[in-house]
Amino acid sequence: MAAKPTFYITTAIDYVNGAPHLGHAYEKILTDVMARHKRLDGFEVMFLTGTDEHGQKVAKTAEANGKEPKEFCDEISLKFRAMGKLLNLSNDDFIRTTEPRHYEASKAIWNAIKDNNPDDIYLDKYAGWYSVRDEAYFGEDELSDGVDSEGNKFKLAPTGAPVEWVEESSYFFRLSAYADRLLKLYQTQPDFISPDTRRNEITSFVKSGLQDISISRTNFNWGVPVPGDKNHVMYVWLDALTNYITGIGYPDMQNDKFKKFWPADFHVVGKDIIRFHCVYWPAFLMAAGIELPKRVFAHGFINVNGQKMSKSVGNVVAPQDLVDTYGQDQTRYLLMREVSHGQDGNFSHEYAVQRINSDLANGLGNLVQRTLSMIYKNCDGKVPKPSEFNNEDRALLEMAHAKLVPALRIECAEMRFNRALETIWKLVIEANGYVDAQAPWALNKTDKARMGTVLYVLAEVIRVLGIVVQPYVPQSAAKILAQLKIAENERDYSFVDNKKMLRSGFEIDPPEGVFPRLESNEKAA
Ligand code: MSP
Repeated sequence: MAAKPTFYITTAIDYVNGAPHLGHAYEKILTDVMARHKRLDGFEVMFLTGTDEHGQKVAKTAEANGKEPKEFCDEISLKFRAMGKLLNLSNDDFIRTTEPRHYEASKAIWNAIKDNNPDDIYLDKYAGWYSVRDEAYFGEDELSDGVDSEGNKFKLAPTGAPVEWVEESSYFFRLSAYADRLLKLYQTQPDFISPDTRRNEITSFVKSGLQDISISRTNFNWGVPVPGDKNHVMYVWLDALTNYITGIGYPDMQNDKFKKFWPADFHVVGKDIIRFHCVYWPAFLMAAGIELPKRVFAHGFINVNGQKMSKSVGNVVAPQDLVDTYGQDQTRYLLMREVSHGQDGNFSHEYAVQRINSDLANGLGNLVQRTLSMIYKNCDGKVPKPSEFNNEDRALLEMAHAKLVPALRIECAEMRFNRALETIWKLVIEANGYVDAQAPWALNKTDKARMGTVLYVLAEVIRVLGIVVQPYVPQSAAKILAQLKIAENERDYSFVDNKKMLRSGFEIDPPEGVFPRLESNEKAA
């Protein structure tokens, strides 16, 4: 058998300075949907996620909690791992930057940069502003002034985070030497950064001139030691970005995984960290002589009731609360349906209930429930054998067989999952309309054979729907496909085919509702 094409996708790795929230959950679901879509489309997929555990932010939070950094990281990292289960993520690995494999990879990339381009790393002194919350350096010209309640003045980063003045001995990376190569990259590979607005943002940032960046710290020690200098730990972003190659076995670039999966197809990250992924990361890789990833996709932010999530506002939503209130698949569906490609999205309880009820309970759920109940009651519980298809039957079947998957491929290639779902739901709406128009309950009295054909067509459309909704609502899709007795190895896109239609004559189990209706007064998350 020919080897499958491969696909490597990663999420940002989350800082372990607090418990996971809705924003983290959104990014991980987004990436999971892409990974599942690609698997269904015949790819061998590697999906990596994990936790970012070094740096001053984590060290300070551990201290504030009276814990050693490692002990604290172990605790919080487990919560992120648990979020994977909670949301049914299909990641193939979970990386922690405190693992030995990652220390090895981080040291190796540092050495590779030094070996390939000895002038690109040099020792100097850093004197400037640092935001611990962003783990980022900022120039004076980027800052604004703030005043606290006691009238004390302080400086703020563009992200709104306070900055502190840092002076320390530091190794620098000669980023300034990479501007031309980076601009050429954005020009020759326009989809390296998407959506376009982000590419424009990064292009102007690089055009405005790149400064060399500090890549080591000396005033704390929670990090990967710099090879050959025990007074320094690596700047957390150099170590964090390296996770993408640690996860496939770097520094052993001859191992199967690395050869198969590098360069990565997609790094999925939030819009706040594109500078690191689209400027620093490709420059580090160029310097180390390692191929560049193919694409960075920047998603927007999830707000809650129109407001940015923040501890001080008290509107931080925990993924667990959503799953408890709406269910796992419902949460996944909601986030994928509500957020447009690369844009910020909003979460509100009222809207969530409306959306879940209209699309899942009344839309797909009702279609499945009424079709399977009629088969169960009126056809001796067996999928009926169809007689000849008429034009309406053929039109509906063609929509399912011929047009759906090609349209989904186009939307999913750009991670436009809201549009992919709209496309799928056009078929759900069409099929529900077909039920109403054909009225199989009336045919039960007048024309049993025709009723059998109508129910067969519907069951076949449900089979197709069950297959294509798997990336979004995997558990419910599995229930739908199990009710139709579809074998596990017959559930990928290649089975969406008019030559591989549902068998007839076999018995189905008593149908069970897949998507319960929610009451609108159910506890707000
Ligand atoms: N540790 C870095 C990433 C290193 S990747 C080599 C980091 N961590 S984070 O925990 O602050 O954020 C992790 C991811 O969650 C980022 O991609 C970030 O954009 C995303 N989000 C954080 N809050 C978010 C929302 N409110 N909405 C959507 N995504 C958000 O940055």
